[in-house]
Amino acid sequence: MHPLAALAFCLCTAAMAAAADLRPGYYADSCPQAEFIVRDVMRKASFRDPRSQASVMRLQFHDCFVNGCDGSVLLDDTPTMMGEKLSLSNINSLRSFEVVDEVKEALEAACPEVVSCADIIIMASRDAVALSGGPEWEVKLGRKDSLTASYEDSNEIMPSPRSNASYLVDLFSKYNLSIQDLVSLSGSHSIGKGRCFSVMFRLYNQSGSGKPDPAMELKYREKLDKICPLGGDENVTVALDATPEVFDNQYFKDLVSGRGFLNSDETLYTFPKTRPFVETYRDDQQKFYKDFAQGMIRLGDLQSGRPGEIRRNCRLVNANKHSFIGYGGKNMEVS
Ligand code: HEM
Ligand SMILES: *[C@@H]1O[C@H](CO)[C@@H](O)[C@H](O)[C@H]1NC(C)=O
Ligand SMILES: *[C@@H]1O[C@H](CO)[C@@H](O)[C@H](O)[C@H]1NC(C)=O
Ligand SMILES: *[C@@H]1O[C@H](CO)[C@@H](O)[C@H](O)[C@H]1NC(C)=O
Ligand SMILES: *[C@@H]1O[C@H](CO)[C@@H](O)[C@H](O)[C@H]1NC(C)=O
Repeated sequence: MHPLAALAFCLCTAAMAAAADLRPGYYADSCPQAEFIVRDVMRKASFRDPRSQASVMRLQFHDCFVNGCDGSVLLDDTPTMMGEKLSLSNINSLRSFEVVDEVKEALEAACPEVVSCADIIIMASRDAVALSGGPEWEVKLGRKDSLTASYEDSNEIMPSPRSNASYLVDLFSKYNLSIQDLVSLSGSHSIGKGRCFSVMFRLYNQSGSGKPDPAMELKYREKLDKICPLGGDENVTVALDATPEVFDNQYFKDLVSGRGFLNSDETLYTFPKTRPFVETYRDDQQKFYKDFAQGMIRLGDLQSGRPGEIRRNCRLVNANKHSFIGYGGKNMEVS
């Protein structure tokens, strides 16, 4: 068995046991205004930077796949712990951590030490979709924040933009996520942007052929060739679908016309097992919304079963006597 397979399998077994503790209305008594506060900060963030909605929503995927939804992706590196922010899929790519910080500050002011950072990601992701014109759903809450994060696990688990649909079907199944979940959740690429870095191989050297990916529509390729020339700045960003600020089914229409940005996107249409779902969502936005909401709830159910806490600052494990030891006198106190 591939080591990743073993890891993912163990995670899922643990996940099912702990997921039962999550429920809607978890903060109804301890912080009744929690969901209102999160929505309010997210709305303000979207005025400042519309893309922040996509960037925050992406955090749910990158948090939940790596040892469950435990806020591990939010932890900054420390002298003794290399976290997930610099891993292959996250470096120069994950963004809008400051929006999560802002939500946390507002929640700490209203109900100190009650709402976990892991739950903030879940609420904020739901809000990002709703504020972008997509569906609404009820979130289950009650997660704890991890005491650590893992650079290695993130590297091993998170799929590369080169992944194909066949690989992704297998990967998602290790998390008890179905083909329907994979395709509907990939519809999150209805909002947001990706870097040239993530598409260069499709434009110039698909599968080491020295040629572009034949699945890419010609006009779309010509457009990307201009934005992402060989030897150019690979941090330049491109919309992931034709309407990157609206959560709609345009993404699936684009896949069918060969205008998917990532290899992982376009192969959802070229691979026979995923193609029927792409066609269904292209034709039926309401069905996409319904399946997407269900997928986000299942993604949010992933739990590691490890001990946790309610962090005061999403970037740091709570300072206690033990966490001060070994930091060479550096003041790790949370301000
Ligand atoms: C199925 C496998 C997936 C792969 C291979 C994948 C890969 C990627 C890549 C490569 C990017 C662009 C990163 C960059 O170039 O900097 C991206 C962006 C994004 N991903 Fe995914 N992703 C997947 C699934 C998901 C899921 C399940 C979600 C959310 C539930 C998600 C949400 C997003 C969002 C919203 C963006 C845009 C972020 C922004 O504008 O800042 N992705 N993804
Ligand atoms: C999909 O990716 C896997 C793993 O990287 C590879 O072995 C397989 O050949 C690919 N399939 C296709 C159809 O390209
Ligand atoms: C996997 O998900 C399905 C559908 O949500 C659920 O019925 C099943 O119980 C889950 N499997 C495990 C092992 O929890
Ligand atoms: C294309 O990819 C192949 C295999 O990864 C590599 O050997 C070759 O040097 C690449 N060609 C270019 C022009 O980058
Ligand atoms: C993107 O920008 C970062 C930070 O400015 C830089 O370190 C990195 O090398 C750039 N990456 C690419 C692919 O150009």
